[in-house]
Amino acid sequence: MRIAFAADHAGRRLKDHLLDRARTAGHEVLDLGTDDDGSVDYPDFGRRCAEAVADGQAERGVVVCGTGLGIAMAANRVAGIRCAPIHDVTTARLARQHNDANMAALGERIIGMSTAADCLDAFLATEFEGGRHSPRVTKLG
Ligand code: RB5
Repeated sequence: MRIAFAADHAGRRLKDHLLDRARTAGHEVLDLGTDDDGSVDYPDFGRRCAEAVADGQAERGVVVCGTGLGIAMAANRVAGIRCAPIHDVTTARLARQHNDANMAALGERIIGMSTAADCLDAFLATEFEGGRHSPRVTKLG
């Protein structure tokens, strides 16, 4: 799978950790920054990653900021994006099974590195269930 990653300065370390994990697992990764600790604005990076997914440059997107909230809000303003704030394996799994989320947002100040890695694994491995969930997802637009 081809996966795009982006973060602001508050999520950069976790973004790099998750990107390495995805690459090691054999996925193709697209690093959309940020690349250092300099302060940047999360809406710019949320939108950048969301546009890469919406354009078909990547099948999934993973974004990280301090909380995972602001960057999820930014991503969800791009048409066709369903970006779920993820904080444990259950939300990671259900975001895929029920919501067909094509992006995950995590908070480096909220979640530990190991739990975040488990969330990434679940998010990438879980399929959308379809069925009763399909018309609901369609209503999201
Ligand atoms: C940056 O300080 C912080 O506000 C940002 O990373 C994020 O948590 C916003 O939602």
